[in-house]
Amino acid sequence: MNTLNSETPLDPVAHRPLWYPDELAHAGPEHLDDVYVAHYDRKAGFDPAADVLRLQALGLNETTTLVDLGAGTGALALATAPLSRRVIAVDVSPAMLAVVRRKAQQQGLRNVECVRGGFLTYEHTGGPADFVYTRHALHQLPDFWKAIALERIAGMLRLGGVFRMRDLFLSCPLSQARDVVESWLAGASDRPEVGWTRAELETHLRDEHSTFTWLFEPMLLQAGFEVREATYSDSRIFAEYSCVRVR
Ligand SMILES: C[S@@+](CC[C@H](N)C(=O)[O-])C[C@H]1O[C@@H](n2cnc3c(N)ncnc32)[C@H](O)[C@@H]1O
Repeated sequence: MNTLNSETPLDPVAHRPLWYPDELAHAGPEHLDDVYVAHYDRKAGFDPAADVLRLQALGLNETTTLVDLGAGTGALALATAPLSRRVIAVDVSPAMLAVVRRKAQQQGLRNVECVRGGFLTYEHTGGPADFVYTRHALHQLPDFWKAIALERIAGMLRLGGVFRMRDLFLSCPLSQARDVVESWLAGASDRPEVGWTRAELETHLRDEHSTFTWLFEPMLLQAGFEVREATYSDSRIFAEYSCVRVR
């Protein structure tokens, strides 16, 4: 896409530049595990209703195309499909995509496409997307690659298209980061089947790439987005953005 040109040598097997990371290797091993994936919905407890309303308020309707990157078990993709023309659920994990496919079939949804790919490798086809959505997935990439991913996302969208994202971001000054993290860890679940335990949250902090809002927001601007809404949780651990591609 727009970070490559025809001169860029590609890995002959993976069809990505030799200097690109292997997204599967950084996907979080649990997301590739059939047993974890089978219990993911109960653990995550994600209700997409509020996001669906936000997306409708931003113009989602029966004429629009939405791409859900890092779609997981497809909660948002499946909830928006009856309201959309075309929905593409993208994930690096075959186990996650198998769940999306099964649910789409059970629900009789014929406009959901499941594509194996990632932020750095998904190649959008068809007309440009009106919406790109991602929740709790971009933190799998370090900041350099987040910026590259954002540029690719802008490249999938039409001008004026909407990018809505939610993730774990610290929205506090650096001087408060330790306190914010400690109070988040103190509130961890002690039941792994219905939430994330302290050990899992520690793994997230140590091995994955949540960043500060004040590092991430300039990346959105660099990638060609204007931030229309930014919301930070009281815990200062979660943030959500609705952005528009302006160039
Ligand atoms: C915590 S789950 C979130 C799933 C879903 N978006 C949700 O909100 O429930 C993270 C998802 O991101 C996927 N993922 C990890 N690395 C990715 C990448 N580089 N590109 C796309 N998806 C990725 C994982 O396979 C997993 O399904």
